Amino acid sequence: MPPTDQPSPCLLVIFGASGDLTQRKLVPSLYDLFQQGLLPEHFTVLGVSRTGMSDDDYRGKMLESVRKHARKFDQGQWDAFAKLLHYHPADPTNEADFSGISGRMSQVATDHQTGDNALFYLSLAPQFYDAVISNIGSSGLVTEGKSWCSINRLVRPWQRIIVEKPFGHDVESAAHLNRVLGRVFEDESVFRIDHYLGKETVQNLMVFRFANAIFEPIWNRQYIDHVQVTAAETVGVEGRGSYYDSGSGGAMRDMIQSHLLQVMAVVAMEPPGTMQAQDIRTETTKVLNAVRPIDPKHAEESAVRGRYGAGLVSDQAVPGYLQEPGVGENSQTETYAALRVDVDNWRWQGVPFFLRSGKRMARKLTQVVVQFKAPPHVLFSHRKADGPQRNRIVINVQPDEGIHLSFQGKIPGVGMKIGAVEMDFDYAEQFKAQPPEAYATLLLDAMRGDQTLFKQRQEIEQAWRIVQPILDTWAGDTEAALPTYAAGTWGPTDADYFMARQGRQWLNA
Ligand code: BG6
Repeated sequence: MPPTDQPSPCLLVIFGASGDLTQRKLVPSLYDLFQQGLLPEHFTVLGVSRTGMSDDDYRGKMLESVRKHARKFDQGQWDAFAKLLHYHPADPTNEADFSGISGRMSQVATDHQTGDNALFYLSLAPQFYDAVISNIGSSGLVTEGKSWCSINRLVRPWQRIIVEKPFGHDVESAAHLNRVLGRVFEDESVFRIDHYLGKETVQNLMVFRFANAIFEPIWNRQYIDHVQVTAAETVGVEGRGSYYDSGSGGAMRDMIQSHLLQVMAVVAMEPPGTMQAQDIRTETTKVLNAVRPIDPKHAEESAVRGRYGAGLVSDQAVPGYLQEPGVGENSQTETYAALRVDVDNWRWQGVPFFLRSGKRMARKLTQVVVQFKAPPHVLFSHRKADGPQRNRIVINVQPDEGIHLSFQGKIPGVGMKIGAVEMDFDYAEQFKAQPPEAYATLLLDAMRGDQTLFKQRQEIEQAWRIVQPILDTWAGDTEAALPTYAAGTWGPTDADYFMARQGRQWLNA
């Protein structure tokens, strides 16, 4: 079904309604959308999870989260919004519970006049996905079918599903999940979320590249030396130790396979023919398909890992990873990973992309650094006040969303002294606005049927294929002592040597 500008009436069913993601992101984002008048006129939410609660208990619980996490709170707005929230205690992995779920869905849909449109959100632990998707299918909740007559498409009700990450833990499990989804939903109704794609600056990257004539001609191997994509966090595993340590976590799976490869694909993609979802996703998928397969025999030339030890983060003493609750004492899980990616196509041949992510790093920072080559003929090298520096574009995804261009300028005064100068675009200052929460953008897009910022099935499977040789090598190397870094630093020194061996250096700013 083609996307619409206005979201149509909709019942949102959240499986995992009392979980952390629902409380920190989903309900506060819905409340923000409600305050801005962006939700459909007829809209309601049915939260489903196993905890016994009434509608009012649930609203009370969500009120706490909204107060804490929404952009701004207004009691009157909350009172109106709270009426849209409903709760049904059930175990969605149990098929027998679905007659109750389906009855409650019909009731709230009738009360709020949302018709048969339903958006399911899987905000559950990934081991439950299969069962819940199959139960949705076998309970007859998906009526949009392959046999629809196209003439009726615009008025047909729709049922869509948003699937949270992790989407599998390797190539095979991701392909399996795609098959399970395909048995119940049309591909155009499956929204595989990557909240990094919903971040304003990641979308702005496309505008930066394709709405300006001056950058695209230099966005290639002729001018660019390398690209760095960093996602550094100051938080640790935030009470998710047992999940993170279970074999589905670790920085390579949790951040690089998912978020960072996607951001890289947006940096590296060819201009799409149109801004239609399919055209954009075709181009990002082509980038991932062009990534040179990593030879497991040379894995150490492509990747580095590390684990944080105790240290100081923002002047607070924090424990090391092995002391976090739920983490095994013999854990080999990496909390830091860096990966070199080579894209074998005409544009990027010989331009490495370095992706890195770590927990408990020196500061929270997600950024893309596009490092340009030195000018072909250097006239001023002996006049530099601050050492050699080349042009650089830094795209700050978060915090301090913005874009910065560094270039060389003459330092005022007698004589020819050269120094680096910065040209800054600061999102908040320029637009006097805070970027929206990524989840608000993505929830609204799913209601509108716009898949542009969601991953397609081939993309996810290909991203797993890219990292799999490293994951396999690390999994086989159970005796290796993981390089450590003190919490509150920029990662293991091995990661600095890794870059130095390639004649480059991380930008930690
Ligand atoms: C999630 C990861 O996908 O992204 C978390 O599972 C991580 O481990 C989080 O902390 C980071 O998101 P953001 O938006 O804070 O950069």
